[in-house]
Amino acid sequence: MGVVVLYGSETGTCEMVADHVVDALSSYGDTSLYDMLEFDPEDLDAEDFLVVVCSTYGDGELPTGAEPFYESLCDEEPDLSGLRFAMFGLGDSVYDETFNRGGEIMAEKLTELGATQVGEHARHDASSSVKPKDMAQEWAKKIAEEFLT
Ligand SMILES: Cc1cc2nc3c(=O)[nH]c(=O)nc-3n(C[C@H](O)[C@H](O)[C@H](O)COP(=O)(O)O)c2cc1C
Repeated sequence: MGVVVLYGSETGTCEMVADHVVDALSSYGDTSLYDMLEFDPEDLDAEDFLVVVCSTYGDGELPTGAEPFYESLCDEEPDLSGLRFAMFGLGDSVYDETFNRGGEIMAEKLTELGATQVGEHARHDASSSVKPKDMAQEWAKKIAEEFLT
């Protein structure tokens, strides 16, 4: 089993978060990191453990960096049965109604295609004093202990 970390970003926070997730997970096995813009959903492998890092833009929408991947999921409808994934969403609670919708939209689509979400669905709040990298490292450690050992 390998760990695939995918991030979909608008202004780079998710990439930084994904780097820290990879750091936290790399001692648990073979871990690779991809920008969703450069990843084809057909390459998702049920043998792998998927970690998705995804922010929110517009009015509760996916960031630009996640849109083509999401569109491919909608068009290709790959069968993701057996694939386990964990979600780290990013957002800002000033966007009250649409807080962290991006990660939720992506998690809903992966689930609809047969994948199983595991672990805590993290929702980082840019208005909080918690640094995304600190929250991500702590979250990733818990995911690793629960699902990768
Ligand atoms: C124009 C704009 C729109 C945003 N819309 C939302 C939103 O609807 N809901 C939310 O939770 N966060 C929203 N955010 C906050 C971002 O998701 C948050 O700052 C995140 O950390 C950015 O990550 P990124 O740099 O990887 O894209 C928005 C930010 C901007 C600048």
